[in-house]
Amino acid sequence: MDADTNILQRMTSNELVSMAVALDIPLTQRSIIRDELVDRIASELEKTEKKGLKPLTSPAIRIENMTKRFGPKVAVRDLNLKVNPGEIVGLVGPNGAGKTTTLRVLTGIIRPTSGSVHVNGHDMCKKPIPGKRVLGYIPERPTCYPSLKVREYLTFMARIYGVSKVNTILRIREQIDLFHLNEFVDSYIGTLSKGNLQRALLAGIFIRDPPYILAFDEPIYGLDPRGAWNLKSLLKRLKKEGSAILVSTHILEVAESLCDRFIIMNHGNVVGRGTLSKLSSLFDKATTLEEIFLMLTGGIPQT
Ligand SMILES: Nc1ncnc2c1ncn2[C@@H]1O[C@H](COP(=O)(O)OP(=O)(O)OP(=O)(O)O)[C@@H](O)[C@H]1O
Ligand SMILES: [Mg+2]
Repeated sequence: MDADTNILQRMTSNELVSMAVALDIPLTQRSIIRDELVDRIASELEKTEKKGLKPLTSPAIRIENMTKRFGPKVAVRDLNLKVNPGEIVGLVGPNGAGKTTTLRVLTGIIRPTSGSVHVNGHDMCKKPIPGKRVLGYIPERPTCYPSLKVREYLTFMARIYGVSKVNTILRIREQIDLFHLNEFVDSYIGTLSKGNLQRALLAGIFIRDPPYILAFDEPIYGLDPRGAWNLKSLLKRLKKEGSAILVSTHILEVAESLCDRFIIMNHGNVVGRGTLSKLSSLFDKATTLEEIFLMLTGGIPQT
């Protein structure tokens, strides 16, 4: 059984009928036998052209000499950062270090004071829309469309990403299963708990085909242990398949187990960068990311 048939078999009758309509399958019989409809849809899907996935530009994320000021306050100073396809880069730093500001500039939500930002080769300052269409962003404090139901939100995201009608129905079902959203799919976004909202937002990002360029601000915060584990496994798999991922986090165990490289920020400046082994070679006594982080951001507190 192929993946499409597997998903079709888990669909509700309404979803199957919507698929049939989107595929122009005539529904003339008074009663349609479910298994026959699944077979019919599966064979139509076989005929639809499967487009080869476009690999990402390398680097997929490029930030050069970026400074962001808020009045006299320098939130980020002269930052250089690249993320290549097939890489997870961790942006770590204490409160107020400039992580969220960096991600907001990257996504085109705010403009840098100086410097340049490119996403998949698109200049986010001059022409942000093409870059925004390939970027999946999870903000630190999500406030999005409280009066849309989860299913409506997923459909809306599929439209933004240009997913076909048929694939939208398929992918929504896939995401509902992947992020355990069945119970909430017809609830309003505004009524979801923090963790369930996070799952709905993640489902919205993954509604389009990979590879992805992802910018996640504290993505694990708010998820329960199973949700966190699932997300970490998913990100590791996506990385292997060629996605480019930038994750800001305080949770250093997560960063250590997930990221290939780190950028450590403090007061808007980069104070360390590289792999864990490169960073630990800078200090005699620091081996874990936590120790390196503390050494680079004010020293290990004496107890
Ligand atoms: N819109 C704004 N106006 C003024 N100052 C701001 C604004 N946004 C951020 N800042 C300041 O810029 C600095 C960096 O903030 P930012 O939110 O990027 O830090 P962060 O590393 O994400 O911190 P945290 O770990 O607490 O989330 C802080 O001093 C913050 O107060
Ligand atoms: Mg932040």
